[in-house]
Amino acid sequence: MRVRTRDGEYSVLVGTGLLADLPRALTESVGARRYAVISDDNVASIHGHPIMERLRESGLDASLFTFPAGEASKTRKSWSILTDEMLEAGYGRDACVVAVGGGVTTDLAGFVAATYLRGIPVAQIPTSYLAMIDASVGGKTGVDVHAGKNLVGAFHPPRLVVADTEVLRTLPRDERAQGLVEAFKHGAILDAAYFERLEAGVHGLLEADAGAAADAVLRSVELKAGVVSEDEFEGGYRQILNFGHTLGHALEAASKYAMGHGSAVALGMLLEAELGERLGVTEPGTRERLAGPLLRIVGLPRSLDVGAAVPYLRSDKKVRAGRIRVVLLRRLGEVDPGEGWSHEVSESLLVEVLATAAKAP
Ligand SMILES: NC(=O)c1ccc[n+]([C@@H]2O[C@H](COP(=O)([O-])OP(=O)(O)OC[C@H]3O[C@@H](n4cnc5c(N)ncnc54)[C@H](O)[C@@H]3O)[C@@H](O)[C@H]2O)c1
Ligand SMILES: [Zn+2]
Repeated sequence: MRVRTRDGEYSVLVGTGLLADLPRALTESVGARRYAVISDDNVASIHGHPIMERLRESGLDASLFTFPAGEASKTRKSWSILTDEMLEAGYGRDACVVAVGGGVTTDLAGFVAATYLRGIPVAQIPTSYLAMIDASVGGKTGVDVHAGKNLVGAFHPPRLVVADTEVLRTLPRDERAQGLVEAFKHGAILDAAYFERLEAGVHGLLEADAGAAADAVLRSVELKAGVVSEDEFEGGYRQILNFGHTLGHALEAASKYAMGHGSAVALGMLLEAELGERLGVTEPGTRERLAGPLLRIVGLPRSLDVGAAVPYLRSDKKVRAGRIRVVLLRRLGEVDPGEGWSHEVSESLLVEVLATAAKAP
């Protein structure tokens, strides 16, 4: 599919076995003189080397640059090491970064591309559900800093995205479950029928059935790209993608990131549905409707310190003028427009709703 941006359009290819054709796709969409393939050491050892071989066999000038796997590497330090290595290797403005990996890699390598010689193209080759469904589409790149996650970065849309769902077979099962939560979020905010298809097919998706995964990734990319095309720089409508994230981020931070992002957002979605139901904005029964599949894939955390989450609510990016703003559903598949796609909510009500976190469902 094609995604529109302010500066043009790019292709997102979704399917099975697409990596065999990567050299041709790169040549057609980018046509760079040299390619800097960036990957974490984990993904590099599984998928990076075969990709490198293919690029070289096709006569492309490509080198592999790696960094240690994990969120702890999404830093300015990794950015400076990678950019220094590329400078030493003599990469010029006619080069292209090829990010091969999960969301950490697509964010970090995207930021390298956004800043290298004031910006060179990036091709995103996402290898996790999260990266395919969420991180590689939308143009946000960046790194984490002491003050918080993703606070230094740039909007830098890719020139090409290739999501080959065959690679999901090697993704650990828990990572699959965590990433799929964002697909359910896309269904919850925009497409109830998609939510139901995901629910019915969740077993195959968790088992990384490549065909089922391609169908889901394609629909999620369509939905996310549709939102981003309307509001590329997060002025208003794009914040509907934050559904489940106001409370989810607070719970995730309160756990000191012991809780996976998917688990935190799943619980955040249930709680924000509860909040909407209490306010009479969200159709009754929506929390329960969401809970069925979400708790099946990520479960409820064993221990939860909801009190510790409260201070993090105030530091959320969605706080405007001291009041906390939350995206609320009208019903499954539809966001309530509220005022500018969110509702102002008192902290005391949020705390009350947080206290219901441990209740089933
Ligand atoms: N830019 C955006 O719009 C956006 C959106 C959502 C999330 N993100 C970012 O994405 C990041 C999380 O992404 P993630 O969950 O993919 O994390 P990740 O990149 O750390 O990948 C998770 C783990 O899975 C491994 N892995 C990835 N693909 C694999 C494969 N095919 N086979 C085997 N192992 C594989 C990685 O090596 C890593 O150990 C966060 O930093 C988050 O901020 C960005
Ligand atoms: Zn998220």
